[in-house]
Amino acid sequence: MRFMLLNILQFVQHCIRQAIKAGDTVIDATAGNGHDTVFLAQCVSSDGQVLAFDIQPAALEITRHKLLQLDLLSRVQLIQSGHERMQEFCDDRVSVIMFNLGYLPGADKQFTTQAASSLQAIQAGLNLLAKDGLISIVLYPGHEQGKIEAILVEQWAANLPQKEVTVLQYRFMNRVNNAPYALLLQKRI
Ligand SMILES: C[S@@+](CC[C@H](N)C(=O)[O-])C[C@H]1O[C@@H](n2cnc3c(N)ncnc32)[C@H](O)[C@@H]1O
Repeated sequence: MRFMLLNILQFVQHCIRQAIKAGDTVIDATAGNGHDTVFLAQCVSSDGQVLAFDIQPAALEITRHKLLQLDLLSRVQLIQSGHERMQEFCDDRVSVIMFNLGYLPGADKQFTTQAASSLQAIQAGLNLLAKDGLISIVLYPGHEQGKIEAILVEQWAANLPQKEVTVLQYRFMNRVNNAPYALLLQKRI
């Protein structure tokens, strides 16, 4: 079979599958159209739990509908709140947190994620993360707010102490139009 490099989503999902085991509690920090929530619900199996956050009721409704169709709704708690407040909703240690930043395609762009609250949420996520747990962050520098967010999140992540967190950037460097890319943070302590 011909070898192809994994695209951003494939790479993120590949890593996350290794970091989750059945029965885990995990977080989708940006539910949006529900694709990542469905993926996480499948990974945790029927004993596990996904907390899925979004500030837009319409996004949570789309996600709820998808989960219902796939008989996965019982594994997911849908939470209409900013992800920066995730610690208020979660008592457990979690093995994985997914952030897919930016705005929901086709919806109002005023609901795009913002650098300050995203950074607050990623820090809260690191507090909740179990040892060896993984945070994935997909950044979208192709729009104005996304570019600012990508720069600030990347700068912050690059300065995390390496004894505490391993930080990986997965990025196709010669893609045109400021293509999205991923950061993966693995907690070491
Ligand atoms: C790129 S979309 C997520 C796509 C989604 N993961 C999927 O699989 O379809 C980003 C989402 O983040 C949400 N969002 C924006 N600010 C937020 C915040 N502070 N807390 C939680 N969600 C937020 C938006 O409403 C939008 O639905």
